[in-house]
Amino acid sequence: MACPFFKLAIFVFTANIFYPKIFCQPKLETELCQNATQLKCSCKKFDNSNASTTTLLEVVCSNASLATIPNFLGPLRSLIINNDTFKILPVFDRYYELNRLELMHDNINLISDYAFHNLTQLNYLDLSYNDIVNLNEFSFSGLKNLEVLNLQMNRIFIILHNVFTFELLPSLQILHLDGCKIFQVEAGSFNGMGNLAVLNLTGNKIDEPETLGTSNGQLHSLRHLLLGSNRIRELHESFLKYTPNLEELNLEGNKLSTVSSLNFEPVKKSLRSLNLRGNQINELQPKCFKNLNSLEHLDLSYNQLMVIRRKALPDFEVETSLGFNLIMHDNFLNCSNCDNAWLFENNRVKNAMKFNASICTSPENITFITASSTLFKPCVSDDERMYKVTLAIFILIFLVVLAVIIVFGVLWYRKRNSDRYPRAMNVGLSRNSGWVGEGTASNEGKFSYRELENQNAFSIDDNEDNNNVSADATNNDNDAKL
Ligand SMILES: *[C@@H]1O[C@H](CO)[C@@H](O)[C@H](O)[C@H]1NC(C)=O
Ligand SMILES: *[C@@H]1O[C@H](CO)[C@@H](O)[C@H](O)[C@H]1NC(C)=O
Ligand SMILES: *[C@@H]1O[C@H](CO)[C@@H](O)[C@H](O)[C@H]1NC(C)=O
Ligand SMILES: *[C@@H]1O[C@H](CO)[C@@H](O)[C@H](O)[C@H]1NC(C)=O
Ligand SMILES: *[C@@H]1O[C@H](CO)[C@@H](O)[C@H](O)[C@H]1NC(C)=O
Ligand SMILES: *[C@@H]1O[C@H](CO)[C@@H](O)[C@H](O)[C@H]1NC(C)=O
Ligand SMILES: *[C@@H]1O[C@H](CO)[C@@H](O)[C@H](O)[C@H]1NC(C)=O
Ligand SMILES: *[C@@H]1O[C@H](CO)[C@@H](O)[C@H](O)[C@H]1NC(C)=O
Ligand SMILES: *[C@@H]1O[C@H](CO)[C@@H](O)[C@H](O)[C@H]1NC(C)=O
Repeated sequence: MACPFFKLAIFVFTANIFYPKIFCQPKLETELCQNATQLKCSCKKFDNSNASTTTLLEVVCSNASLATIPNFLGPLRSLIINNDTFKILPVFDRYYELNRLELMHDNINLISDYAFHNLTQLNYLDLSYNDIVNLNEFSFSGLKNLEVLNLQMNRIFIILHNVFTFELLPSLQILHLDGCKIFQVEAGSFNGMGNLAVLNLTGNKIDEPETLGTSNGQLHSLRHLLLGSNRIRELHESFLKYTPNLEELNLEGNKLSTVSSLNFEPVKKSLRSLNLRGNQINELQPKCFKNLNSLEHLDLSYNQLMVIRRKALPDFEVETSLGFNLIMHDNFLNCSNCDNAWLFENNRVKNAMKFNASICTSPENITFITASSTLFKPCVSDDERMYKVTLAIFILIFLVVLAVIIVFGVLWYRKRNSDRYPRAMNVGLSRNSGWVGEGTASNEGKFSYRELENQNAFSIDDNEDNNNVSADATNNDNDAKL
């Protein structure tokens, strides 16, 4: 069979220089395309900027009513078969040069073990919109160069820990598992997938996500983790333990009622975007997002928060809200609550919140505030309150110290007085005009009597030694009672 002259000429010119041994390739290509057309598939050659390869072949079969994967022979790089009914995906025993394989809407419900074992050149595999239920450790074996795997809209239910691992899929970067009715992802799944950057688990039925990866198999490259529209009620502390470089975490449309700083501790350096929109969060624990220093985007809208405290958030610049985008409309914020006052301190923050929806629901439903800060006129800011408390404490301490100084001063003064005058004179004073005498005269009988009795007791004891000493002791006793 002779090739048309011009094709041959071009082919010989290019291929002969680089690949003399595939001289007969055009014949195979043409034949393949003829066969494809017979099966109502389209066949297309497309250029690759890579100079060393001549042509790449792509076969597209849509609505071709194929009963099974066609058996073309030849240098096929891309095979796309949509809207057919295969049920079972057989083992691919040719197409070893395939780079791209798309099998969407094909009613596939079973992938044969080792089906892709020899497709080592494949880097894009799309199996979305099928009925695939069971996946095991042989399902994706051999796909050493696979970078994108799309399993969107299947019925996988459970992700076993040994299906997506580094050993099987070492090059995988993007994995779509959205809309797969998954309710459980086994702990340690995605073990060691060090190239995985995007994991989409949106729209499943996961209620308690387990730890991703393991201590020996971290997901160093995981940047985007999408878990929106699941049924997550609670996050384990160790959930993100092995995804240290996560930048985007989407948890919108779940059933979280509270979040804690412990949840985000492992990703506090890397996390830039956190979406918690549409959960049931009614309280933010103190310092909840405080340590997330890279955070640029935080969406808390459509929750049940009455209060958002400044200290729950990272230290972004309030004055300019520079580099921080806080979305918090459609909560139950209480505009009478002074803990919310900081939110409306200046227009920049307000703009950053991008709300034109419900801001406060009490005392009234306020949707757009122009002179917002007037709402909080009677509020005292945290700093001001702190300042007042501190001041009060200082004044109190000062007063106590002053009182102590006065008391000791008086005591010292009296002691000095008693030291300065001779003891005999003291005794005389005490005897003649001391308060014992006065007490006797002016106060109740009992009191004076006891004082006198004390005095007598001392006098009796000391009488044997020295009368002066005994009198002095009496005087001291009186001092102490003063
Ligand atoms: C270009 O060709 C080289 C050698 O055949 C190959 O390694 C490389 O992957 C090709 N690049 C593309 C984009 O196909
Ligand atoms: C394939 O068939 C479906 C319905 O069976 C139709 O909606 C779709 O347009 C068809 N696509 C092509 C490319 O013919
Ligand atoms: C084309 O189809 C024929 C008959 O089925 C087959 O023998 C041949 O190998 C096919 N050629 C290619 C390139 O697939
Ligand atoms: C396959 O069929 C679905 C509906 O049955 C249709 O929406 C889709 O466009 C079809 N795809 C192709 C590539 O024909
Ligand atoms: C893969 O290819 C090898 C030869 O390269 C062959 O022996 C083996 O049977 C193939 N495996 C499958 C599952 O097709
Ligand atoms: C994840 O899946 C959802 C649902 O299919 C889709 O809307 C979203 O664009 C996907 N995101 C990424 C980053 O793949
Ligand atoms: C709003 O906050 C004020 C002041 O803290 C409080 O008195 C009031 O009860 C709150 N309103 C609601 C609906 O909780
Ligand atoms: C927000 O809504 C108010 C009235 O509901 C309207 O006047 C204003 O233009 C809106 N602003 C934006 C940015 O859409
Ligand atoms: C507040 O007002 C907005 C617009 O008028 C409305 O969409 C929203 O449902 C209202 N919210 C409440 C809690 O009444």
